Amino acid sequence: MTDGNADFAPKTPAGGHPEGDAPEYDDTAIRFLEALWGEGFLSPGGPDEVRRVVADIDFAGKQVLDIGCGSGGITLFLAREYQPAGIVGFDVEQPVVDLATQRAAEQGLMDRARFVRGAPGPLPFTDQSFDLVFSKDALIHVADKEALFEDIFRVLRPGGRFAASDWLTSHDGEPSAAMRDYLAAEGLSFGMASARRYEAAMEKAGFTDVRTVNRNAWYRDVARAELERLKGPLYGPVAAAVGADYVDKNIRTWSAMQRVLDSGEHCPTHLFGTRPDA
Ligand SMILES: C[S@@+](CC[C@H](N)C(=O)[O-])C[C@H]1O[C@@H](n2cnc3c(N)ncnc32)[C@H](O)[C@@H]1O
Repeated sequence: MTDGNADFAPKTPAGGHPEGDAPEYDDTAIRFLEALWGEGFLSPGGPDEVRRVVADIDFAGKQVLDIGCGSGGITLFLAREYQPAGIVGFDVEQPVVDLATQRAAEQGLMDRARFVRGAPGPLPFTDQSFDLVFSKDALIHVADKEALFEDIFRVLRPGGRFAASDWLTSHDGEPSAAMRDYLAAEGLSFGMASARRYEAAMEKAGFTDVRTVNRNAWYRDVARAELERLKGPLYGPVAAAVGADYVDKNIRTWSAMQRVLDSGEHCPTHLFGTRPDA
């Protein structure tokens, strides 16, 4: 979801986020993505897409975890609009957590929202500490889906809910040539998997009511419009903020992404599950 120049191979043996390396979502990446998707949003769809993910969640009195919160726009939107008892935004990178914390203070939401940076791997939270685990387009960075869902299940209270969006693939076989081009263009620590693998990992962890909703048809059109805006009205202002080379590189990334969205191999997907009552 930003530019980059790594080749297709994941940067870590686990295909996860490379702790200790330079941040993938650095200040330039944040400026670029927020110019495209809105302040605090490092993924597409804005508040409307978030509302769709949490449409049937009751936030009253709930403790919420937002995994991979990025620069905090969605965490703070949930804090403001849905007013849970508390929400924790967790991320593995410092620049996004610093910016999110600053914004929480500026928006007077520190009483309800806080941000935590931690290493990739097991979540730094005690067992059964959340009623809802939310995530938006961040779990793609964790290659070991089975360990991930075991850990999400662990931090949820019995009866707790999981509601998320993520970027999936249509299959778990070898990526097509077009997908390989796209992943190389992104250059991020992506560990993509199919809905079938996500569902199996969630069920293995103990989740019930497991459900996935393919959002390819929606994002296919939205991404096309993003690319047109990048090439058109956004080009000048964004190039002034991050440099023309950076925008040009992302135009190539978006063009490569459009091909795998159009083929259906890249499928943004909503994910749902429940930790059953004990
Ligand atoms: C595409 S951004 C999405 C940010 C935010 N959810 C949003 O939609 O605006 C992905 C985020 O996941 C974070 N991330 C990467 N690996 C992670 C991991 N293992 N655990 C939690 N977050 C991770 C990145 O640092 C980045 O902030």
